[in-house]
Amino acid sequence: MRRPAVAVLNGCNLNMLGLRDPRYYGTVTLAELDKLVGEKAAGAGFAGCVCFQTNHEGAMVEKIQELCQSIDGMIINPGAWTHYSFAIHDALELVAAPVVEVHLSDIASRKEEWRRRSVISDVCDRTISGKGFEGYLEAVDWLAERL
Ligand code: DQA
Repeated sequence: MRRPAVAVLNGCNLNMLGLRDPRYYGTVTLAELDKLVGEKAAGAGFAGCVCFQTNHEGAMVEKIQELCQSIDGMIINPGAWTHYSFAIHDALELVAAPVVEVHLSDIASRKEEWRRRSVISDVCDRTISGKGFEGYLEAVDWLAERL
């Protein structure tokens, strides 16, 4: 039997965690986040954890396409693409496994009106917002329960 793997996809500007406004995004860097999520995934029963970050929308679409039929669970924080990328929305429609949308900040209560809307929520199975890096860990547990 194939051993289950989870993917953790982070979009634009999330490589700058640690430098971005800590009131919204905390102080954990992307390298630290990837390590924490990898350890959590191993503990939750995933044999593999694919961590990917890009600042290029097309690269994100291609990564989702590459994983869409093979991955057993997907966590995605598209960054600002959350609010307008119909291309990422359509790519996520292809994913056979459960998908969790995660945001470090609580996008529903942010001051910019455009930030309160997600165009990908309807193609995700769950949204976790405003729990910092722990939201990713909660997403891993939720996906592991669905294996
Ligand atoms: C974010 C929220 C987005 O509005 C923002 O553009 C990000 C990060 C979050 O994790 O809270 O880059 O997705």
